[in-house]
Amino acid sequence: MSETGMWVEKYRPTKLSEIVNQTEIMGSLEALIKDPTDMPHLMFSGSAGVGKTTTAICIARQILGENYNQNSVLELNASDERGIGMVREKVKKFSKWSGFADIPFKIIILDEADEMTSDAQTALRRVIEETAKFCRFIFIANNISKIIDPIQSRCATFKFTTISEEDIISRLGEIAKKEKVKADKKGLKAIYDYSEGDLRHAINLMQATASLGEITEENVKSSAGLTKTSDVVDVLKLALSGKVLEAREKMIELIKVYGMSESDFLKYINSAVFKSKHDKLSDILEVIAKYDYRILVGANSEIQLSAMLAELAKIEK
Ligand SMILES: Nc1ncnc2c1ncn2[C@@H]1O[C@H](COP(=O)(O)OP(=O)(O)OP(=O)(O)O)[C@@H](O)[C@H]1O
Ligand SMILES: [Mg+2]
Repeated sequence: MSETGMWVEKYRPTKLSEIVNQTEIMGSLEALIKDPTDMPHLMFSGSAGVGKTTTAICIARQILGENYNQNSVLELNASDERGIGMVREKVKKFSKWSGFADIPFKIIILDEADEMTSDAQTALRRVIEETAKFCRFIFIANNISKIIDPIQSRCATFKFTTISEEDIISRLGEIAKKEKVKADKKGLKAIYDYSEGDLRHAINLMQATASLGEITEENVKSSAGLTKTSDVVDVLKLALSGKVLEAREKMIELIKVYGMSESDFLKYINSAVFKSKHDKLSDILEVIAKYDYRILVGANSEIQLSAMLAELAKIEK
């Protein structure tokens, strides 16, 4: 499915007023951007799929208006660009003031900032100070305790909450209506239960269900089960046949787009291995157990899971 075919993108709010649930935060932010010159750096924290990135982009749009473009907004994803050298260079290059008359400042959105090492964060602190006159940062972090104090203390912090049942169901209802998909109450409630307050997950599950037919409890259950297990089986097959890159892409999609947790991913892959009755079963299980442990003790799970797929790819050889 192309990105544009995805309902999460199609229905991503473009204005703060369209963001559901986070009303207190939206109230404060609307007030802050009325006179943006005094706007502090911002820090958004909270769990997945609740509107943090969307809010950051809406703010940039609303402050910069028609001047919103690559020269005025820099979006960095800390997990793609880990090295501080990279961040520094990009930020420095970007922040060089080029005499925009019509905007109060440029905006740097640093998504997944909690994935940066503390060294990188310390270096970034400098950059924040050096560029203070004409740049504002918006940091986004799932886990704010991983952000060093000097950065935290320079930001106004907003903690996003998981989205209530009522708001998820009503948002899903609106989307279903626009997509002309029939949805009954129990079906939407079932989606909410799976989503655990993650609206991205909820919308993705509804889209997956819609491809089976109407949004009924039964269809929701089978599509939730289907996406989970059958896609994990695919990842396993791809890895074992040596297609590490494809396997990794699919795994990341499951985790990032469908909101599958890393531990669930390992659980499903473990049971898929058992069912496969592979002749190197014990080798495969050992590999999975090794990475399960590494993640448990706190290693970066995306890196570890990628390494696991690479190791699985070697088993057949
Ligand atoms: N509060 C919200 N209001 C409306 N739509 C939302 C909201 N939260 C999430 N969504 C929907 O979910 C999608 C993902 O939201 P977003 O990228 O803002 O999540 P996030 O909080 O940044 O999650 P992550 O921590 O995984 O990056 C959006 O495109 C939108 O369709
Ligand atoms: Mg995000």
